[in-house]
Amino acid sequence: MAKKDKLIVGVDIGSHSVKICQLQKVGTTYQVVSLGSAALPEGCVEDGVLQEPEDVAKALVELFKNLKIKNKRVGISISGYSVIVKKISLEAMDEEELAEYIVDEAEQYIPFDIDDVYIDYQVIREAIDENSRNEIMLVAAKKEVIDDYLDMLQEQKLLPVLVDIDGFALENIWEVSSHSDANVALVDIGASKMNINIIASGVSVLARDVVVGSEQLTDQIANTLDIDFTEAEEIKLGQRTAEEHSKALEEIFTQTCTQWVLEIKKAIDLYMSINPETPLTKLVLSGGGAKVKGLKEYIRHETGLEVIIFNPFENMKLNEKKIDQNYLKAIAPEMAIAAGLAIRQAEF
Ligand SMILES: Nc1ncnc2c1ncn2[C@@H]1O[C@H](COP(=O)(O)OP(=O)(O)OP(=O)(O)O)[C@@H](O)[C@H]1O
Ligand SMILES: [Mg+2]
Repeated sequence: MAKKDKLIVGVDIGSHSVKICQLQKVGTTYQVVSLGSAALPEGCVEDGVLQEPEDVAKALVELFKNLKIKNKRVGISISGYSVIVKKISLEAMDEEELAEYIVDEAEQYIPFDIDDVYIDYQVIREAIDENSRNEIMLVAAKKEVIDDYLDMLQEQKLLPVLVDIDGFALENIWEVSSHSDANVALVDIGASKMNINIIASGVSVLARDVVVGSEQLTDQIANTLDIDFTEAEEIKLGQRTAEEHSKALEEIFTQTCTQWVLEIKKAIDLYMSINPETPLTKLVLSGGGAKVKGLKEYIRHETGLEVIIFNPFENMKLNEKKIDQNYLKAIAPEMAIAAGLAIRQAEF
């Protein structure tokens, strides 16, 4: 009989939309149980900070209700200026010593006041003898930013059991769904930010957030054509034709995509200059911005890498009574981070 483990509900609160994903472990694979997204009014989340908790809560509660999700244990992830991820190298020490060291010494590694942040860490490479060093991933996140999210969730009777980081959630779902340890660049292009995470030998070696995204396109279309945001968004998504402006539109797409690709290339070049012997084999695109027509081919042309649009559910089973296959396929790239949260087990 299939074994079912209780997983948490992945809640990705983006600047454009809230996305929810619920999975179930079935043997060695997963089944997609529920999936949904709801657009947020503009300005609800800015630079990763929750600005309008009530609006977000409303969208979230509605989604839980519509999707009939009973599980209250949720995981969220954060990104932006309020979180710092730093790799540090320390002399070999045991677990207890390390925990003590982090508490005492974390301050020197982070640009925030130690009292204002939550600190977490993970050993990513353990020292093999007394002469080698431990590689530690140190994470510091502003308490007030995290607490705003936690308060909002708790007020809705949801139980936040995990706060992750966008880039880590992406890395986790990529590793689980691809079963591959190839060296890859994971690139998530959302509405207002792009997250680049380069994974080599199963470890994140370069991670950065860049403040660009698909909303840039909407803004520029609105400004150039002197129309409102909603209309501009429809034109961007091809839901409304604007043939008389095709030249202007083409220019906007080209300019913006060129900027995105420059950022991607900068990260890849940096990686290559440090690791010339272990080249990347693939670039994995996710987020709503991944769906910009022609972007995949353009990145391939500019980087020489194979580019795929990430479908985190490709090898998962599907509750077909509840989830439409076409919907799943269309929304899969935006769902990557929510899926990366939804594969985590509830901790009691
Ligand atoms: N086919 C498409 N072409 C261009 N843009 C698209 C397409 N489909 C969706 N988008 C855009 O993708 C964005 C939403 O993507 P996503 O859900 O990944 O963003 P988000 O997670 O809410 O934002 P962020 O992570 O930046 O805070 C919107 O700006 C939307 O217009
Ligand atoms: Mg996002």
